[in-house]
Amino acid sequence: MTEQAQQQNNSAIPTFSIADLDHDTHALFRQYRPLTPFIQRDDGPLFVLRAKDVVSLTTDERTRQIETELLQLRGVTSGPLFDFYDKCMLLSNGAAHRRRRGPMARTFAFKMVAEMRPKVRIMAEELIAQHYEAGGMDLFEDYAAIIPAHTVAAILGMPKADIPKFAQWIYVMARSLGTSWTEKDIPELEDASRQMADYMYELVEDRRRHPRGDFLSDYIAAVDENPEMTPLEAIMQIVIVILGGSDTTRASMAIQAALLLEHPEQWQAVCADQGLIPGAVSEALRFEPSVASLPRLVLEEIEIGGRTLAPGSLLMLSTMSALRDPEIFGEPDRFDIRRTDHTRWHYVFGGGAHRCLGEALAKAELEEGLAALASKIPQARLVGKLKVEGHGGIRSAKDLRLEWTP
Ligand code: HEM
Repeated sequence: MTEQAQQQNNSAIPTFSIADLDHDTHALFRQYRPLTPFIQRDDGPLFVLRAKDVVSLTTDERTRQIETELLQLRGVTSGPLFDFYDKCMLLSNGAAHRRRRGPMARTFAFKMVAEMRPKVRIMAEELIAQHYEAGGMDLFEDYAAIIPAHTVAAILGMPKADIPKFAQWIYVMARSLGTSWTEKDIPELEDASRQMADYMYELVEDRRRHPRGDFLSDYIAAVDENPEMTPLEAIMQIVIVILGGSDTTRASMAIQAALLLEHPEQWQAVCADQGLIPGAVSEALRFEPSVASLPRLVLEEIEIGGRTLAPGSLLMLSTMSALRDPEIFGEPDRFDIRRTDHTRWHYVFGGGAHRCLGEALAKAELEEGLAALASKIPQARLVGKLKVEGHGGIRSAKDLRLEWTP
């Protein structure tokens, strides 16, 4: 296509500021999804809106996962935060991605997740018990944030005393994967990255010397089989597993409880019949996903829906829009835990080579976290109104409190 034709083709792309997108993201996506395959945010990225395009572009060889580009744009080209971006499986492609994901995928087995499930339930029930007599807790800080950090610490066999400092590093580092940080945050992000890497290095070395037949021992054995994997790479796959499972699960845990409490008939149904829980978790992940988009770079010109994606474009494959596409979901703006048209592979966990490695663990945590609330405090009420923030990357939901009569 000539440059002029290209300009014409893309000239009328509806473009929005971050504030426009934040205002009522679902309404904006609903309005533009039938009109155009993608819209543009005024700082550059193109948001792909339709489910069929989101799905096909995740595996399209004319796109690739972003690597360190966004960090470099902010002037970070070396150091501990850069090392993390540069070496983790999430932000790598091709052979490097396969080498980094392989040992972790083998170790992150179904059996390990199945063994964790009852432990997550006990932990969730203990958390509720700690707050029970007080008659209330912060849904986000006191419950949703604790379960993922404690779960991953249990998987890695960390001493309990280390959890608070380690959780703090996780949540600081996880901010770097979002869009809301600026250059002034870099020292704090680097500090957390450095401390996390040092901590993991020591933990791995200790377990190498004293294998225990647990997850970390198995992972080290799998890594040691591959001479191409450097020690730094081995550590960074642990860090990305921790990060990948923190903000995402934390937000979804809070969102699902809030959505159900805002739909009392469905909350009561879940309390009465725990068989409804997997459907409730899937529906909450669809209705208000904690991951709004997958980033990808366009390598070659791609035609979609009568428009052209130019090489070099940064795409946000909008899972948030796809999950409300009426081509796939009947009455997509209705929250219904009994819906029967969920896709076999939930879009919220992405697709292709990078599909979420922790999907089974995330579901186990979300299901057990919800089951504990429904069985221990069915009388809970929500104080505050659910407002999920963010339209790209990981979203968040704060200022939610649960109260109940003990
Ligand atoms: C509700 C919770 C979760 C959601 C919505 C979620 C979503 C996602 C998505 C969309 C991706 C793909 C990103 C892309 O293609 O660019 C991903 C990747 C990943 N997730 Fe999750 N995730 C969740 C929980 C977890 C948990 C609990 C873990 C582990 C403990 C985890 C570990 C990972 C890892 C390691 C990757 C990178 C995979 C790769 O690049 O090959 N996630 N996740």
